Amino acid sequence: MNKIVIFFSHAGDNYSVGNIEVGNTKIVADYISEITGADQYEIVTHKYDGMAYTPLINLAQEEANKGELPPYEGAAPDLSKYDTVFIGGPVWWGTYPQVMFTLFKDIDLAGKTVIPFTTHEGSGLANCVSDVKKAFPKANVTKGFSIYGHEVRTGKAKVEKWLKGLGY
Ligand SMILES: Cc1cc2nc3c(=O)[nH]c(=O)nc-3n(C[C@H](O)[C@H](O)[C@H](O)COP(=O)(O)O)c2cc1C
Repeated sequence: MNKIVIFFSHAGDNYSVGNIEVGNTKIVADYISEITGADQYEIVTHKYDGMAYTPLINLAQEEANKGELPPYEGAAPDLSKYDTVFIGGPVWWGTYPQVMFTLFKDIDLAGKTVIPFTTHEGSGLANCVSDVKKAFPKANVTKGFSIYGHEVRTGKAKVEKWLKGLGY
């Protein structure tokens, strides 16, 4: 089984954890790769670099309301050799950050197993699983996993337990 983790994660000033050098979701993505051997593709944008928390949440809300699709750096990944795709990101205003939806438009996950996960501060999976299902109607989208962002640094055991339940 060939696996890849596609994720977005925002390092910098954030709710509850302060100014972090490595984003919460990246830490979970790294646990998944360490435990399952999955490759990684990180969705990168420099649009939010150096922003303080309050202007960032305002900008993100505006993007979500308008359905904006900010560009990501580089090319979309070639997913032809993968049958299992983990998709992870923070919850921003009830779903994944808009830049993730930009990538979703450029990839095809038909026939693949898709495993969504989030880091969050209270919303859990929010609308992420249903929005992934909408983006990839021909994929087999599983129920998903969420963990508090402020828990990830001490929460590796929770990720291990989830993955064990999936057979890893
Ligand atoms: C712009 C923005 C919007 C957010 N919106 C929500 C939200 O709607 N629900 C929630 O539980 N957490 C929300 N959060 C908190 C993040 O989901 C949480 O801190 C997450 O772990 C960040 O992951 P990252 O470090 O990988 O970017 C928001 C954070 C930001 C910066």
